[in-house]
This record gives sequence, structure tokens and C-alpha cells, in this order.
Amino acid sequence: MDPAQFGYSTLPLQHKPYDTILPETLKGANTGKVAFVTGAGQGIGAAIAEALAKSGANVAILDLKLDNLAKTKETCLSHGVKVEDFACDVTDGEKVKEVMDQVEQKLGPIDVLINNAGILDQRPFMMSTFDGFWRQIEVNFKAPLMLIHQILPRMKERGSGCIINIASRSGTVDVPMTLGYVTSKAALIRATHTLQLEMELDGLDPAIHMYALHPGGVLTAMGGAGAAKEVKEKYGDITDEEFYKDLFKDGPPLCGQTCAYLATGRGKELRGFFFDCRQDIAKLLDYGRERLLKENRNTLTVNFIDGYCNEP
Ligand SMILES: NC(=O)c1ccc[n+]([C@@H]2O[C@H](COP(=O)([O-])OP(=O)(O)OC[C@H]3O[C@@H](n4cnc5c(N)ncnc54)[C@H](O)[C@@H]3O)[C@@H](O)[C@H]2O)c1
Repeated sequence: MDPAQFGYSTLPLQHKPYDTILPETLKGANTGKVAFVTGAGQGIGAAIAEALAKSGANVAILDLKLDNLAKTKETCLSHGVKVEDFACDVTDGEKVKEVMDQVEQKLGPIDVLINNAGILDQRPFMMSTFDGFWRQIEVNFKAPLMLIHQILPRMKERGSGCIINIASRSGTVDVPMTLGYVTSKAALIRATHTLQLEMELDGLDPAIHMYALHPGGVLTAMGGAGAAKEVKEKYGDITDEEFYKDLFKDGPPLCGQTCAYLATGRGKELRGFFFDCRQDIAKLLDYGRERLLKENRNTLTVNFIDGYCNEP
């Protein structure tokens, strides 16, 4: 892959938390809220849970195993908030409902849902089993939508809520060897745009606000892991250190603090949109919702040749 094919931003990109989203700026801004974070055991999910805790939210943290959550729990507790941890595979709808009920009993109504858990199996479609391909759709798309389906009636009843879907720029581009990933993330972004419009139907826009985010390139168990051995043997290995150092240079707190900021409601004008955490949120807000909508920005779209529009 040649990164230059996508062009380079002329505005500076952020790689770590900046003024608008710094922990000091958001101190106490989410006090009393309850946040629900999936895949919080490591990587970006752990940073999101910590950022929310730092901003005063009580957090429910979920991952496949309780052991995975020990470190995140300890860190969040150190910020003086309440923390409940749950072993829960997010593709298990019954278990998710049970966990949500327990969170509401122990911490109170859920104000913020962060769909962060995700998986990537980097191989060509025809080197995947169909089940292996489909599992990515289940974890990355079905599960977030199932959680939203469970939580929206609760948020609607209270007339407020924030939902953040950790998507990826991979949902906006074609990347060979990642079919399950790119299609699940594209679907998640599209769902975010469409569901926000559905909030208008019930008079719940902007009280219920949703976002789809690209967290940046973050070196985690997933980010920069590369393809499986047999894939590298067949197609060669593009994983040289320089390549990854350049592409995965964003710290997990960039996305974590962005989520804490959005949870406060201060970024509501960006509801329904997809955006990249590396882009300064204050710049997007200055650009203005009306203009973003009018110019079809920050949304999955198609760009036909001049003279052809995408009319119904
Ligand atoms: N790292 C990056 O550069 C990058 C870039 C774009 C998007 N993302 C997205 O960010 C999110 C977090 O990624 P990460 O890099 O921190 O990955 P990671 O692999 O380090 O962490 C993912 C976490 O999700 C958990 N998880 C996986 N399947 C689960 C399931 N079925 N139920 C519950 N928990 C489950 C894992 O146990 C793990 O703790 C993902 O949605 C990913 O697609 C990451």
C-alpha cells in the first residue's frame, strides 16, 4: 500500500490529546454519568474507559474474560469513580442484556455506550473460511447494532444518551485482505448516519447523539499486527518497521479523550457524522454542522462524474 495515494492533510493532524479534549479541560465534565465500554481490556478500549473515568463517569467495562479487565479496573478506580467489570462476549445477545440490566441496577441508567470491541483477520477472502470472515461482521457490526437495539429504548425513555461507534477509516476505503473488517466498519458508519436521522422521527435529535470514529493508527494487539503467517508466505510480507512506525503513531488516549469529550455533549453538532480523531474537533465544530451537511462532508458518499448526481 502506498499511503500517498490518499493524499496528505495540509492541516496538522493530532496524535495525542490536545487543548479541547485534554483531561484537565474535561475534569468533572461527565460526573454522575454511567458509561458502558466494550472491549475495555486493552488497547483503545482501555484508554476510553480511563478517559471517561478521568472525566468523572462511572464505568461498566466489558471484555471476553474478567482477567483481561483487571488493569483497566484498577486504573479507573484510581480516578475515584465506580467501576463494574463483566466477562461478556458482545455477540451473545442474552448475555449483553443481562449485563445491561446489572449495570443499571449497580450503577444506574446508562448514559453513554461505546461500541469499541472489534476484531481483524487479515487475509484474502478466499484464504478465509466463510465463518472466519463472518465472525468479523458479527463482532464489528452485528454486536454494536445489537447493543444499540438494547439500549435505545432505555435512552428514549429518559430522553437522552450518547452512542459512540469505534469504526475505522478502513470503512471508507478498499483494502485487500481485510474484507470482513472493511465491510463491517463501512456498515457501522452507515448505521451511525442513518440511526441519527431516525432520532429525528421521535423528536430525540439532538438529545440522543451518535458518532462513528476513526481512532487513528494505534499500535495495539490489532493495530500493526499484520497478516497471518500463511498469508505472508503466499503474498510476501510488507511489515517492515519503518512502515508501521509511520502509520501507527497515535496514542490510545487520543481516541479515549475524544470519546470523553463527545460524552459531555459539547460536540453534539457533529452527531451522525464519521470523523477521524486525528483531526482537531474544534476545527470541525468551527466549520459548522450546516456546512458539513450541505457539502456532504464526513459521511460515506459516492462521487459520480460531473453531470451525474446521486438523485433518487
Ligand atoms: N488499532 C488501530 O490502529 C485501529 C484503527 C482503526 C480502528 N480500530 C478499532 O478500534 C477498536 C479497538 O481496537 P484495538 O486496536 O484496541 O484492538 P485490541 O485487539 O487491542 O483490543 C480489542 C479488545 O476487544 C476485545 N474483544 C474482541 N472481541 C470481543 C468480543 N466478541 N466481545 C467482547 N470483547 C471483545 C478484545 O479482547 C480486546 O480486549 C476496534 O473496534 C478496532 O477495529 C483500531
